Amino acid sequence: MKDINILSIETSCDETSIAIVKNGVEVVALTILTQMDTHANFGGVVPEIASRMHSENITMVLEETLQKANMRVEDCDAIAVTYSPGLLGSLLVGIEFAKVLSYVYEKPLIKVNHLVGHIYANKIDNHLKFPCLALIVSGGHTELIKMTGDYEFEKLGETQDDAIGEAFDKVARVLGLTYPGGPNVERLALNGQNTYKLPTMLNDDTYNFSYSGLKSSVINLVNNERQRGNEIRKEDLACSFQIAAVDELKRKLELALKNNNIKNVILAGGVSANKYLRKEIADLCAKYEASLDLPEFIYCTDNAAMIGAAAFPLFLKGEFADLDLNAESNSKIC
Ligand code: KG4
Ligand code: ZN
Repeated sequence: MKDINILSIETSCDETSIAIVKNGVEVVALTILTQMDTHANFGGVVPEIASRMHSENITMVLEETLQKANMRVEDCDAIAVTYSPGLLGSLLVGIEFAKVLSYVYEKPLIKVNHLVGHIYANKIDNHLKFPCLALIVSGGHTELIKMTGDYEFEKLGETQDDAIGEAFDKVARVLGLTYPGGPNVERLALNGQNTYKLPTMLNDDTYNFSYSGLKSSVINLVNNERQRGNEIRKEDLACSFQIAAVDELKRKLELALKNNNIKNVILAGGVSANKYLRKEIADLCAKYEASLDLPEFIYCTDNAAMIGAAAFPLFLKGEFADLDLNAESNSKIC
């Protein structure tokens, strides 16, 4: 079969990224331009600034990607783009850019759900083993999905309030760490001990999660200690928080492993870059003799390569989007 090269575009939040992905598994070229440093000045992503920066940079990101691949848009077989979930203004920049390329170069347009992209990040240089449990841990989502085949999803559970990444970012902020907080909390936790007693969240027999209680208890604890003039052991608090946050994932994943007789697990989304989480989930999977796929670090956080990987099964099925494609702020995987 002829090789299929998909030019893929991701602009759902604060990364402008374009990739060329061959046959859904091989990354020919990838460029990620992050706006992190700009948003760090505001303590979080400012949507207006994000979309403006995407508009300013996207042409340059395309040129750089084509140069790296030594290819032209003409050489690609389709244009894929993230259409949801994400910031509407940011998504629209990528979508309009993709539509123009699709129209001008007469290439089919493929719309990809960002979370499906995170799952398919595990297919890069690899293959997905079905059935599997996919645990999505990102800045905006925490979901446990059962997959029985390509694009066959069944949601087992999801967060009832905040996403785990959001909790990491808020805890980072109260500890005075810069945005995005997750990696900084992880770094701080390396030198800490689990000395702070934090609440156990949804300790029930559903596959749902909850992070707002944990987040609030850390924020309240810091504020109370400050009011009393007591010093906070930041390293210990970061460590205690990280352990509590990961325990919540482990409890629900363990329940799913016990109840579903599924022997393959996938981690997906930005928080899956956390080394403590990777180790703990790996140990849990080993206990249940389940295989674990983890995205390479570069493919954990937002990138267009995962969008190209997720677009490939849609290309094979001929599931193409029309030029009236619009952004959706929060469409579900299933
Ligand atoms: O998947 P992602 O890049 O964007 C969304 O789709 O949301 O995830 C970003 C989230 C942020 O909340 C960030 O703090 C978190 O992932 N994150 C981490 C780590 N690296 C990124 N959280 C904990 N530990 C990390 N090493
Ligand atoms: Zn993401």
